Amino acid sequence: MPDQTLSDYANSLFPAEDTLLRQFKDEAPAAGLPEIQVPEEAARFLQMMIVLSNSRRVLEIGTLFGYSTIVMARALPDDGTIITLEYDPKHAEVARRNFDRAGLSGKVELRLGAALENLTSLSNEKFDLVFIDADKRNYPGYLEWALKLTHVGSLILADNVWRDGAVIRPEEDDVDTQGLAAFNQAIAGNPNLFSTFVPTREAADALSVSVVR
Ligand code: SAH
Ligand code: DHB
Ligand code: MG
Repeated sequence: MPDQTLSDYANSLFPAEDTLLRQFKDEAPAAGLPEIQVPEEAARFLQMMIVLSNSRRVLEIGTLFGYSTIVMARALPDDGTIITLEYDPKHAEVARRNFDRAGLSGKVELRLGAALENLTSLSNEKFDLVFIDADKRNYPGYLEWALKLTHVGSLILADNVWRDGAVIRPEEDDVDTQGLAAFNQAIAGNPNLFSTFVPTREAADALSVSVVR
């Protein structure tokens, strides 16, 4: 395979995807959904974080068609559960159907609506891992909620925190890039978090990983 990238190489050694997940991914455009799920190397990394943190309760903000949800649900123990928040009814419908087809309806609960509104109804809950991957302008608000809804030892992860390098290009000061830059500053400046970036997408983008201490 002459055009093999290092991502292809890594994914051939450590696949996070099976035929069912590939099928869900292939079906997304026909259903009018964007193909902006996490890349396979990030999927594998999310699973690694769930295993390492012994997570049982996971919160996801931004479901799309359920790719990252399914990946994380599969890494959870039998009694593990995920609550995933999605505001687009069409995305939610496709995702719920995919959870069913993957045999994961019992592990996954999708809550439809704007995440910042649904988060208020979770204020009595604690999660072992929070994965932030919805609208970028609201990342700082999602971080505040994630800090309330976690405990010492919990992990807070966020996708797209480099955004193709936009966060270091001052000319790209749109509201979403501003949200990501503010989020990155907030995790870096929080003495209760130990954080780093994990490059994805051939280092064009990154996940942030923070452990609550
Ligand atoms: N985590 C998914 C990808 C999520 S894409 C995966 O990797 O498979 C981002 C999703 O966030 C989209 O489905 C979008 O509709 C949703 N979203 C955007 N703004 C939102 C909001 N305010 N509340 C909840 N979901 C939102
Ligand atoms: C977009 C959102 C994502 O979560 C992502 O991984 C890539 C792109 C977007 O809204 O464009
Ligand atoms: Mg993303």
